[in-house]
Amino acid sequence: MESMGDLVRTHKCNDLNSTNKGEEITLMGWVLRRRDHGGVIFIDLRDRWGITQVVFNPEHNPEVHAKAHGLRSEWVLAVRGKVSTRPDGMINDKLATGTIEIMVDELRILNKSKTPPFPLDEDTEVSENLRLQYRYLDLRRPGMAANFIARHKAAQAIRSFLNEENFLEIETPMLTRSTPEGARDYLVPSRVNAGKFYALPQSPQLFKQLLMVAGMDRYYQITKCFRDEDLRADRQPEFTQIDMELSFINEEEMYRIGEELMVSLFRATKEMEISIPFPRMTYDDAVSRYGTDRPDIRFGFELNDLTAIVKDASFKVFREVVEKGGVVKAINAKGCATFSRKDLDDLTAFAGNYGAKGMAWVKIKEDGEWQSPIAKFFKDEERAAMTAALEAKEGDLLLFQADTMTTVHQVLAELRLELARRLNLLNKEEFSFLWVTDFPLVEYDQELKRHTSVHHPFTMPKEEDIHLLDSDPAKVKSRAYDMVLNGTEIGGGSLRIHQKELQDKVFAALGIDEEEANDKFAFLLKALELGAPPHGGMAFGFDRLMMILLGRDTIRDVIAFPKTQKASCPLTDAPASVARKQLTELYLRPDWDEKKAD
Ligand code: AMO
Ligand code: AMP
Repeated sequence: MESMGDLVRTHKCNDLNSTNKGEEITLMGWVLRRRDHGGVIFIDLRDRWGITQVVFNPEHNPEVHAKAHGLRSEWVLAVRGKVSTRPDGMINDKLATGTIEIMVDELRILNKSKTPPFPLDEDTEVSENLRLQYRYLDLRRPGMAANFIARHKAAQAIRSFLNEENFLEIETPMLTRSTPEGARDYLVPSRVNAGKFYALPQSPQLFKQLLMVAGMDRYYQITKCFRDEDLRADRQPEFTQIDMELSFINEEEMYRIGEELMVSLFRATKEMEISIPFPRMTYDDAVSRYGTDRPDIRFGFELNDLTAIVKDASFKVFREVVEKGGVVKAINAKGCATFSRKDLDDLTAFAGNYGAKGMAWVKIKEDGEWQSPIAKFFKDEERAAMTAALEAKEGDLLLFQADTMTTVHQVLAELRLELARRLNLLNKEEFSFLWVTDFPLVEYDQELKRHTSVHHPFTMPKEEDIHLLDSDPAKVKSRAYDMVLNGTEIGGGSLRIHQKELQDKVFAALGIDEEEANDKFAFLLKALELGAPPHGGMAFGFDRLMMILLGRDTIRDVIAFPKTQKASCPLTDAPASVARKQLTELYLRPDWDEKKAD
């Protein structure tokens, strides 16, 4: 093996073109491909920036050519040579350096490589577990590397926008107390405080509020958050938030900041102009029209409430649901009357996964006539009223759900998405933003038998609803908002309570007594009594944003070293066992046995 010695890299692998003809240059990088064309050896040399073809010609330099025979994929090289233009017919338009090649005079092998466990070209499908185990090889692939270049640009754009807007970047602790985001905590035992634990922050929520009390006025941070929850394609146990908090603001200013931040981000990473302001929709509207508080508005298929029309119909299934206080809703799958019996069976089975007990359907024929197993159960005027409510035309397919409101919404929300997937309506290059506003302040938790916060207990209720806090808390709306992009919640926040009296009232409505409030949040409550300014903020899921921006299907593709669905890391094998001594030092029992644990 050789060293770089006195060789100095003069260019990157995407720098050179025909204007450099005749220059003597030095490149360093990895062997992507090696081709032996009747004596002449061609190597595609790759670095972060691109690919350059380097040529070992026996007539040009027999010694170096002989050495090049041994080169293999992913070996690390330094080459010194002259830039030469490629002959006509050998030009590669797809490559920035496609008009030139390097005639090599000196080759140094800086390192060898075993045969990689998978080919590093983009086309080979590789299992994700293997990719994660050899993540450094996976990240060498230009498609993956591009994600991190884009993520870097995005972070730069975010910082530069927020700096312009007078935010201060301030770090907050990782070893802290439980925060109120509502997921399970990751705990860290304290060695110097026997039996006590830190929690890794689920978000910097309380600290950023304290920074407002500290007079910092505008804070931001791009920071890690930790939540021990069940993982999905858009959830990781540690993920990154673009977190911010502002003093003396209202919702309008918050929306402006959020929207302009997205504008900067899309400009920097995609050279794309997105249009602002974003549409807004209340929570109630979103849930009733789309069945979810994070609607994908790239396509229609809205939910229509037919309860009033069918409540007296002779169709027992619907009538009984209505009698029990349930609802009947339907979506008009425009133009889908061509669906086969099998398509409908598949959709019914799909709906079943989300709790549907059946899925009545209607195909609209000529003159609005209904073709459906349930057509006979309705009077002409009932059918006409439903057709009108759904704006159904010939060729449409109507899909019905009758059940409790929660189940109907859950099923139809998923059914909408499934229809959109089947009909290829989910264009990854279309970006539909939406603010969802006017969330309820609290929701009833059946298990705890009390109301819990929809966001967190410091969320400001709407002023006009404060009088309902004692009598009917479920009716109180909050000053919270979410930003939704293509059906994913990419950010959320609220204006906060900054006065102790109101905070006490909200705690009371949540059934949190003074002792519990003090136990968990005494430091924040104390601060509220020491001149806390009106404030509010929000946090964006940076990984989710990048996933959507880059058209990826999982946030793992935009996180350099992500965890698997089981929260483990195939690269480092974390989490791992530790030495007995480490446990005893932390006052943890080393004899813990899963089989004996209760
Ligand atoms: P929230 O809990 O809504 O708000 O989180 C903000 C955003 O973070 C993203 N996110 C996640 N991304 C990946 N993996 C996860 N496990 C995960 N959990 C959340 C989402 C979400 O919109 N402190 C408040 C914000 C505030 O009120 O200012 C908070 O953390 O995109
Ligand atoms: P049944 O009378 O149970 O055979 O149902 C008649 C039709 O109504 C079938 O197409 C079922 O799929 C549908 N159906 C049954 N229960 C429901 C429900 N809760 N919501 C919507 N459709 C249903």
